[in-house]
Parts: sequence; C-alpha cells; structure tokens
Amino acid sequence: MITVALLSRPGLMDPMQALLARELPGVTVASWPESAARDADLAVCWKPEPGALAAMPKLKLIHSIAAGVDNILSDPTVPDVPLCRIVDPDISAAMTEFVLWGTLYFHRDFDRVVSNARNGVWRRYEQRAAKDRRVGILGLGELGFAAAIRLVELGFAVSAWSRSPKALAGVRTYGGADALDAFLGETEILICLLPLTASTEGLLDAGRLGRLPKGAALILCSRGEHLVTEDLVALLRSGHLRGAVLDVFAHEPLPADHALWREPGVLVTPHMAAIASWEVIAQQVAENARRLLRGETLRNVVDRARGY
Ligand code: NDP
Ligand code: OXD
Repeated sequence: MITVALLSRPGLMDPMQALLARELPGVTVASWPESAARDADLAVCWKPEPGALAAMPKLKLIHSIAAGVDNILSDPTVPDVPLCRIVDPDISAAMTEFVLWGTLYFHRDFDRVVSNARNGVWRRYEQRAAKDRRVGILGLGELGFAAAIRLVELGFAVSAWSRSPKALAGVRTYGGADALDAFLGETEILICLLPLTASTEGLLDAGRLGRLPKGAALILCSRGEHLVTEDLVALLRSGHLRGAVLDVFAHEPLPADHALWREPGVLVTPHMAAIASWEVIAQQVAENARRLLRGETLRNVVDRARGY
C-alpha cells in the first residue's frame, strides 16, 4: 500500500490522520519528521520545512492542502514530482462571499458608518449605484472567475486582469503586464486573487497602488507578499486610498502588537476568506493517491514552470 507524510506545523493536520485512514484503507500516515515519513510515496503539505521533501527518496506526488502552493515551491530543493492543489466549489463560494462582503463594505460605506455608529455620529453618504462602481479583480482563475460572475450579477462594473487574455460575459478583461496600468487606472475597489509567484511578489507597491483613482480601496485575499505594506500605509495616510481589507500577511498570525491592527482605514481579518474543509482535502488527496496507484491522470496539477 501507500505511505503518506504530513508536513506542517505540529498539530495542524491532526484531523487528516483519521480521514486519510478512512479514505485509503491500509494507508500508513506519518507526520514529518517521524522516520516512517521519510519512506512516503505522497507528501501532504502546508509550509513544509525546507529540505524535508528532498529527504524522501520514494516520493511520487506532493499535495498542497490549499489552493496556493507558494509555501511549497519557495523551497528550491522540492523534488521534481507532480504537485497538486485543492480546487473546490465550496472554496470558490466562500471566497466569493468574502469578496462580495468586502466590496459592499466599501461600496455602501460600512467602513465609515460602523465607526460613526460607535461614536453616535448620524451621517449619510452620497449613494452610488453598483453599475457606477468599477470593481477590479487581479487574477481570473478558479476564485477570481467565481467572484467576478457574482459581482456582475449584483450589477457592478467589473474588470479583471490575468496573465493570458480571457473572455467572460459582462467583465472587461485585461491580459498581461502591459495591460496592468489601464486596469488599475479605472479600478475603484481592487481585489487581489493572484497566486504568489516571482512575477506577482510585491506587485502592489506605491507605483501600482498609486495608479488607482483617488479614493480607491483594496481587498487583499491572496498572499501578504503581494503587498508592500508601507506603501499602502503611505497612500492611506496621504488620502489617496480610502481603505483596505487585509486577510493575508507575510507573517501569520499577525502579531497582536502589529501596527496594521490599529491603522485607520485598515481592517485586518485572520486569513479566513476561504477555508477548505479537512473532509474535502482528504477526499481530494485520496482521489489523487488512487489515481497515482492506477497510473491515471492526476487532478488539479500545478504548472511548476508558471508557479501556480
Ligand atoms: P488560479 O491558479 O486558479 O488562478 C490564478 C489567476 O491569476 C489566473 O487567472 C492567472 O492568469 C492569474 N495570474 C497568475 N500570475 C499572473 C501574472 N503574473 N499576471 C497576471 N495574472 C496572473 O488560482 P486560484 O484562483 O485558485 O487562487 C488564487 C490565490 O488565492 C491562491 O494562490 C492563494 O494564494 C489565494 N487563496 C487565498 C485564500 C484565503 O483564504 N485568503 C483561500 C484560497 C486561496 P491565467 O488565467 O492567465 O493563468
Ligand atoms: C489557500 C489559502 O491557498 O487558504 O487555499 O490561503
């Protein structure tokens, strides 16, 4: 039978032991760095220790427990075996909910009225129709695509930027680096749903964020490393940007004494936009394990050259 190694911080993947045993009868499941994990055929990972995957000579498949694989590919010693990720309609639905909430938070002035309410301030703001608000999504993949469809249904003017050109009804699409400035120039609520790669790291810096129209807002749901935090803070303080919902950070959890928690205009959420269930993760890992054993095509394989 097959040996599965679990690689993450201690305790994180405890639920996977029983779920994998149920999905794959006869499987041996070992947590890195137990010695049995070194004989693994399949590694299931979230932020694996650098060098750990390279220390598994029988490894045939690496599986992320997440949609993003940046925390695996950041290790240059990762063996050249297939790498799969989680793709699930419930994750897309959860991300869409978060994105819709964030969009409405700014569009309907909840960023202002919630704090006004705490201070007994009765103030109404000029209302704008959704069709007059342009929402821009960076990344039109599994998650960006699902969110874009629902934003269009709500009546927003929606744009999206991806690496390769795409077509989606009701969405103004932009493809490639040369189109980024035009995309940013019209975007009033910017949603980042890009994977973290060498090409996207630090993308949201003073230059890019400064191209957004005055009063624009950011919803960051991708990875903390996409954002140059001090550039965002400077643009918020200068009044160029209105606010930001930040769900992801380069170092998580964000320490309680981190200044971002208290930065006016910033709302910190705890990497909660879309959380995959352990059931779904175990089912997808098991399905790919069975496919591996049968020599069948794997599902949700990452393109290692692109990095996502
Ligand atoms: P996909 O791989 O399905 O889609 C990625 C999209 O980004 C594609 O449209 C791709 O373009 C585009 N893209 C990639 N690189 C570039 C580039 N250099 N320039 C322009 N566009 C680019 O990813 P998902 O939608 O599944 O997930 C996106 C990310 O969301 C994950 O990598 C993860 O970091 C994050 N995430 C966060 C969660 C949270 O709770 N906060 C939960 C789940 C995911 P093209 O279509 O041309 O290939
Ligand atoms: C993911 C995440 O990549 O939860 O799935 O961030």
